[in-house]
Amino acid sequence: MNEPRKQLYVKSFGCQMNVYDSRRMADTLAPLGYAETASAASADLIILNTCHIREKAAEKVYSELGRVRRLKEAAAAEGRRVVVAVAGCVAQAEGEEIIRRALSVDLVFGPQSYHRLPELLERAARDGKAVDTEFPIDDKFDRLAAPSAAATRARGVTSFVTVQEGCDKFCTFCVVPYTRGAEISRPVQKIVAEIERLAAAGVREVTLIGQNVNAYHGEGTDGRPWPLARLLRRVARVEGINRLRYTTSHPRDMDDELIMVHRDLPTLMPQLHLPVQSGSDRILAAMNRRHNRADYVNIVKRLREARPDLALTSDFIVGFPGETDGDFADTLSLVDEIGYAGAFSFKYSPRPGTPGAEMADQIDDAVKSDRLQRLQAAIDRYQAAFNRRCLHRTFEVLFERRGRHPDQLVGRSPYLQPVQVAAPAASIGEIAAVTVTEIGSNSLFGALASKSAQMSAPRPAFVGAGA
Ligand code: SAH
Ligand code: SF4
Ligand code: F3S
Repeated sequence: MNEPRKQLYVKSFGCQMNVYDSRRMADTLAPLGYAETASAASADLIILNTCHIREKAAEKVYSELGRVRRLKEAAAAEGRRVVVAVAGCVAQAEGEEIIRRALSVDLVFGPQSYHRLPELLERAARDGKAVDTEFPIDDKFDRLAAPSAAATRARGVTSFVTVQEGCDKFCTFCVVPYTRGAEISRPVQKIVAEIERLAAAGVREVTLIGQNVNAYHGEGTDGRPWPLARLLRRVARVEGINRLRYTTSHPRDMDDELIMVHRDLPTLMPQLHLPVQSGSDRILAAMNRRHNRADYVNIVKRLREARPDLALTSDFIVGFPGETDGDFADTLSLVDEIGYAGAFSFKYSPRPGTPGAEMADQIDDAVKSDRLQRLQAAIDRYQAAFNRRCLHRTFEVLFERRGRHPDQLVGRSPYLQPVQVAAPAASIGEIAAVTVTEIGSNSLFGALASKSAQMSAPRPAFVGAGA
């Protein structure tokens, strides 16, 4: 390569898709001579891959840009030019406004323009600034470069793979349909080719990702649209891939065929993130969720019939406009009814341009804070109960990386819990039977199981069983 080596620093905010996208951007810049660095201070190109989901997430970008501006000025004093780019969902939502608010920014481009990065860099070098927030019709995924095998290896034994992007659901609180655009699904063959390449470079676990992953309807090998269930069955046949997961799903698209895959496919891990947002039918309707509480409980019941040890997690929003004490009590009772293995909960954040932001009866921040605290306490109790049910059980752990202590590795249980185990570094990438010996606050501790140990799942939590 004749190009001089340049340093690239990419920082991801927000969801797993941004993590995946950041890697694909780095892959696309590698042939132009950019090598990734973990130090923003030495970078020639700084990309902030941003999230717009809540106000706090969007504001993080501007505080980060303050730091970046100082780096850029320090570099300029040494006669070195640093290019600053804002990518991702804030870029899509705010466009040129970002350059007006933060003059150090040279380049603004949305999630559908990543493949145009080389042209955009040229444009910024020529014209000073460049902005691209279009939704082009060309296939971004085809034009994004693939990573080298060495780059893939350096990234570890688990990987995200985008199979679906965008959302047509328009929940009234959510910016995603506006920042990521309409739902599109990648063709099966291209996904399989990408996963084969990952497997050849040592990846053992793949998580298929999409904003609405179970709405997947990509072109199958027979030229017809395939649902996610068929895609999972096909990907499970890729040699070397021992574990599969998928996220994030919408309850409305949780069809029977997909539920049956949880029963039939041993490589599909017994863990599912299924956001519900609220336990109140009135609020679910105002959120335009297109499912009610009974639908959700019924889906969970069928999932647990298919896979009794399924670890179920969720997302909740408290303080959506009009949420009464009674509505919130319904959310708490749903948490009791389902018995989650964990969940994220958020205070409702009005987002510009979404219907929720215009609704009457916005809730006071103090009320939101109080509800959030109570909900989190309930979720924490169920998470602790789920973890306790894992004590003395033996299950397979995929070792992902070194732990904090020498001779200690960190892996994941089938239920996605981090597990710390004394094991040699050479075991990274291996799956071993581990017996859980201790429950920590954020992870489990375990020991390599004896050869004769029987695998044992945690005692399942049935709908209505509580903790
Ligand atoms: N694609 C995912 C959602 C991504 S956003 C899905 O459909 O599940 C992740 C979570 O952020 C959502 O599930 C929701 O709980 C939360 N969220 C989204 N918009 C929000 C808002 N305006 N205020 C607070 N939380 C929000
Ligand atoms: Fe947002 Fe709803 Fe789409 Fe999820 S389903 S991305 S919450 S609009
Ligand atoms: Fe955030 Fe965009 Fe993901 S708003 S959650 S980065 S889709």
